[in-house]
Amino acid sequence: MKSYSIALIPGDGIGRDVTTAAWSVLETAAEHAGFALTSTEFPWSCKLYKDTGRMMPENAIETLRGFDAILLGAVGWPAEVPDSVSLHGLLLPIRKAFVQYANIRPHRLLPGVTGPLRAENFDILCIRENTEGEYSGAGGRVHQGTLDEVAVETSIFTRAGVERILRFGFEQARTRRGRLASVTKSNAQKYSMVFWDEITRKLAAEYSDVAVTSYHVDALAARMIMAPESLDVVVASNLFGDILTDIGAAIQGGLGYAASANINPDRSAPSMFEPVHGSAPDIAHLGIANPIAAIWSGAMMLDHLGEKAAAGRVMKAVEAATVRGIGTIPGKDRTEAITAAVVAALT
Ligand code: IPM
Ligand code: MN
Repeated sequence: MKSYSIALIPGDGIGRDVTTAAWSVLETAAEHAGFALTSTEFPWSCKLYKDTGRMMPENAIETLRGFDAILLGAVGWPAEVPDSVSLHGLLLPIRKAFVQYANIRPHRLLPGVTGPLRAENFDILCIRENTEGEYSGAGGRVHQGTLDEVAVETSIFTRAGVERILRFGFEQARTRRGRLASVTKSNAQKYSMVFWDEITRKLAAEYSDVAVTSYHVDALAARMIMAPESLDVVVASNLFGDILTDIGAAIQGGLGYAASANINPDRSAPSMFEPVHGSAPDIAHLGIANPIAAIWSGAMMLDHLGEKAAAGRVMKAVEAATVRGIGTIPGKDRTEAITAAVVAALT
């Protein structure tokens, strides 16, 4: 029997609630499909930071490297650990170390979920550059605490980095409706973003079967709300993609439905799957977090592992629950009830 070893990092807050839920759905799906999933749990979190001064141990990256994939809940406990410390100690270094350069975030309405827009018939795949750009971490502060203080944070865009994410987007567009929106702000940022636009044009010549439009990020943000059905694949830099995918989450009904996959397309290291939402400490462990974003992320993990039929069945089961109104109204159904409905629809 085929078996996949998964590193489970529940993290903080509702991360535990939603990974427990997702795992029970994934285990059931695996059982039905005839493959095995084994999990090894790592308690890497803000709690660990409070105890040891580290979000994860020094050899964490080497430890994770041996797994087929990573399933992560959420990171952050801002009342106790500054977000700039916790995220740079756990989530962001994994994305970079494992060259998970494509952050894939699907935005569509699940059946039964009412979004805030009149438009219902949209299906957007946001592809966010995930290793460089505005998140490169290059910068510093001088004269700290004085009136002369200066803070610099430099975005880094490399030809290799921009080209590979755009290429990934073009390839995705080919498997979908053949449209690609490349997002920049090249009217204001005349070096990095003009560079991005040039690479977009260069690749467009290679992918003549894909219809490409370059947008400025402000216009694209408006389009996601005014005409989301006009968009197919959207490729954006790290920070622009971060912001646009919260809009995507909003138009699909909320962060409870927004899934994501941090993919290493070359498969030279494990990929990581996580809901877009945060740790929501205010509702942690109350049993009311919506697990659908985590379950959907789990389906993306099965897809990446090559278990496409099982991934499809998990999504069908989620839809069978939501179409009956389960998990579609905030606060109505408990985490366990939503999970049980998805598991039942799998059997
Ligand atoms: C996300 C999150 C993270 C990001 C934060 C928590 C650092 O907002 O995955 O969208 O900005 O990448
Ligand atoms: Mn975000």
